[in-house]
Amino acid sequence: MTTLPMLTIRGRTLLPIVQGGMGVGVSAHRLAGAVAKEGALGTIASIDLRHHHPDLLERCKADSARATLEVANQEALAREIGAAKRLSEGRGMIAVNVMRAVSSYADSVRTACESGADAIVMGAGLPLDLPDLTEGVDIALIPILSDSRGIALVLKKWLKKNRLPDAIVIEHPAHAGGHLGVAHLADMQDARFDFARVIAETMQTFDTLGIERTRIPLIVAGGVNSHEAVRACFAAGAAGVQLGTPFAVTEEGDAHPNFKRILAEAAPEDIVDFVSVTGLPARAVKTPWLMRYLKNEERIRTKIGARKQNCPTGLDCLAVCGLRDGIEKFGHFCIDTRLSAALRGDVANGLFFRGREALPFGSAIRSVRELLDLLLGATRPAAA
Ligand SMILES: Cc1cc2nc3c(=O)[nH]c(=O)nc-3n(C[C@H](O)[C@H](O)[C@H](O)COP(=O)(O)O)c2cc1C
Repeated sequence: MTTLPMLTIRGRTLLPIVQGGMGVGVSAHRLAGAVAKEGALGTIASIDLRHHHPDLLERCKADSARATLEVANQEALAREIGAAKRLSEGRGMIAVNVMRAVSSYADSVRTACESGADAIVMGAGLPLDLPDLTEGVDIALIPILSDSRGIALVLKKWLKKNRLPDAIVIEHPAHAGGHLGVAHLADMQDARFDFARVIAETMQTFDTLGIERTRIPLIVAGGVNSHEAVRACFAAGAAGVQLGTPFAVTEEGDAHPNFKRILAEAAPEDIVDFVSVTGLPARAVKTPWLMRYLKNEERIRTKIGARKQNCPTGLDCLAVCGLRDGIEKFGHFCIDTRLSAALRGDVANGLFFRGREALPFGSAIRSVRELLDLLLGATRPAAA
């Protein structure tokens, strides 16, 4: 099917295309299972999967204690992993994406291990304790980082625990969707994030630390949207590519059709970078709620920015939250409420994360298989 080299993660041979985790239900069992069934790596995002399970939402409505919400979330994750594994028919790999910035990250890692996930992919913070949390479990560990300094730090810490990552995702903050791995909006375009540079510097780190150069596959993420782009990543030394937005808008994507339409129809000028409640920059489509929020951002900050508040959902999903903890420089909105509204297709009230670049099929919604074929070059005329 493809002349690109296959990707090997923890002894499994996969198509070199990874579907990135997309939170609050955008990548759940249907998308991850469909990707894995094609022989690639599909990822379930662990955060607040209750929204796909009406019975769990009912249970939480009846009893809104934080412990009940948390148990329901973990139950939803376990169900989604089981359903994705069944859909995959034993092919490819099912990963669980866990954000380090989320308060329940350790519980989600545990659920992923107990429910038979093949890999844990951790971003939004340094996954320094991931080897301890998964000790004795045969599961691939894949950190998401953006520059070679972060990679070197994780490698050195993990080496002390006798563990190496089974792959590393290198995500470019100027192109990717959702939360971005950079402290300040102004740093986004910094040359230290260029894929070729991060890969070259990481190879040097491998040499210094005595790690074989081919031991840990490097997977690049952010803005990959054509076969040519995939080839360029491989030419820079990548062993695989991860995509988010193009998978979110596939037929199998787990979000509402309105969610897919908003992402697919967004023109470059409709996409905006802003500071999220996590304190990290994020990228999304300028939909009515976000435009209103950004228009009033300064006023909201000066008015309530430093005031502590109760978590509006009772979930306390983030370890540190600008809204709940009254951190003036951070964003001030409830991210779980906004992302779950987007998942349901509520265009007026939702927050629609999206990558920066144009999509492989423009505004058309196609299947996972068609997307993989396009990326792998299988649909190109033989003469091309
Ligand atoms: C709607 C959406 C939600 C996302 N949520 C998460 C998430 O929960 N965790 C994570 O590690 N990355 C998340 N990402 C990042 C993707 O996994 C992926 O790495 C990134 O979008 C790649 O860039 P691309 O969209 O240009 O392909 C999200 C991206 C999008 C578009």
